[in-house]
Amino acid sequence: MEKPVNKGQDISVEIEDLAFGGAGISRIDDFIIFVKNGLPGQKVNARITKVKSSFAEARILKVLKKSPLQDDAPCPYFEYCGGCTFQNLPYDKQLEYLHNQVKQLYRHLGGFGPVEVQTPIRSQDIFRYRNKMEFAFSNKRWLTGDFESHKPDDFALGLRAPGNFWKAIDLNDCLIAPEETAVVLAAVRNFARKIHLIPYDQKKHEGFLRHLILRKARNTNQLMINIVTSNDQHRIFQPLIDNLSAILNNLTSVVNTISRSLSETTIGEKQHILFGKDHIIENLGDLTFKISPASFFQTNTVMAEALYNIVAKYAALKNTDVVWDLYCGAGSIALYLAEQAKEVIGFEIVKDAVKDARENAALNRIENVRFIEGDLDKLFGKNPELFDDLPKPDVMIIDPPRGGMHPKLIPVVAQMNPKSIVYVSCNPSTQVRDIKMLIEKSNYTIDNIQPIDLFPHTPHIEVVTSLVRTD
Ligand SMILES: C[S@@+](CC[C@H](N)C(=O)[O-])C[C@H]1O[C@@H](n2cnc3c(N)ncnc32)[C@H](O)[C@@H]1O
Repeated sequence: MEKPVNKGQDISVEIEDLAFGGAGISRIDDFIIFVKNGLPGQKVNARITKVKSSFAEARILKVLKKSPLQDDAPCPYFEYCGGCTFQNLPYDKQLEYLHNQVKQLYRHLGGFGPVEVQTPIRSQDIFRYRNKMEFAFSNKRWLTGDFESHKPDDFALGLRAPGNFWKAIDLNDCLIAPEETAVVLAAVRNFARKIHLIPYDQKKHEGFLRHLILRKARNTNQLMINIVTSNDQHRIFQPLIDNLSAILNNLTSVVNTISRSLSETTIGEKQHILFGKDHIIENLGDLTFKISPASFFQTNTVMAEALYNIVAKYAALKNTDVVWDLYCGAGSIALYLAEQAKEVIGFEIVKDAVKDARENAALNRIENVRFIEGDLDKLFGKNPELFDDLPKPDVMIIDPPRGGMHPKLIPVVAQMNPKSIVYVSCNPSTQVRDIKMLIEKSNYTIDNIQPIDLFPHTPHIEVVTSLVRTD
């Protein structure tokens, strides 16, 4: 196909629809242009930033005609930050678009015909809903024009600019992050600049300060701060710790993780506890959870409980049922379901998360669970004896990361042949791909598809789909 645009070219287009992932869709003849932050009904001047064989990407230079749907985004960084794509779209509309996109994925990508996708469950809070935020330090500030022209260019603490892995937008606050964010960012930034700590350069692999991670247990109010550095100089943080512990009465844990890795990971080789404990405690339903810096915990606490209630409803367990919880993290689903099951077996790759899961089971005096540490991509191939050693699942819960399941795991699930499967996903496109493969390999049919919004203002939606065996 002849490409109607070139990189760097400025064009004027109307936005027709929203794509899965959040960009506005416009067309020149049949050639699709994805316009970042574009909303249906807008007419915009946009600059082409990428050209591929069948589509191009563009960013808005000027809105010529406002979308009738458009609201003002409350966040001052909205224009620069990629985090909240839809902050300028009323919440009901966000859900309507996400609902449609999930329907399209199931009908077209999955080819499942007219399956019913339930109306998405709304998030109780649409700001300050995240219990975890990972901020990056950078020696190159993403320039925000006149808006923050007074700031130095060689120090930033905030979020990566979209599509950029080495610069960061220097943020004073983030409206979806915990309430303490502004205070913590200011204290850490002032301290670092006062004693001339150098932010890490992700291209040259030089510098000291890498990440700042905030975690807040919503129901217990406990706060954890994790400072990730490229080498070990943990004693220099003492004045910062004295300051933070004086101004934050819910500060429960401060850790310094040392990560020499060249990639942008926040998992380190070593960890120092600078203040308090090495974990925070959270309550969910009747359960208590220990959360350590590396362990996974659903980021929207209030909605995590709603999510687990849907999982429990679809699993519809009997007290004779054995459950396998694949990708179990710190065991929250497994522990949530344990009371209704005979036994729950969780599988997880992250050692610390498995440790937490076991401790969480002990903390809650739950004895009918066990957790197996291993990489599910290879676990059953390398240890075929597991098929015989473990009790077969009556029900399987599958909650993989965004990339979905490894194709080698699909036949394992089919071989285990549980009577029902509850597949939880934060990425419905990989979920649909995996369910399609599963249905092709075995006798399952889709029973329920329930989207639930854990991530307001973003193009992401959690989807819980239950499958039942047809034979
Ligand atoms: C979406 S989280 C689910 C966590 C858990 N179900 C919960 O609700 O808290 C996905 C989990 O899969 C784990 N994981 C990722 N790849 C894996 C693999 N290849 N094998 C086993 N676990 C893996 C991650 O460490 C993470 O804890």
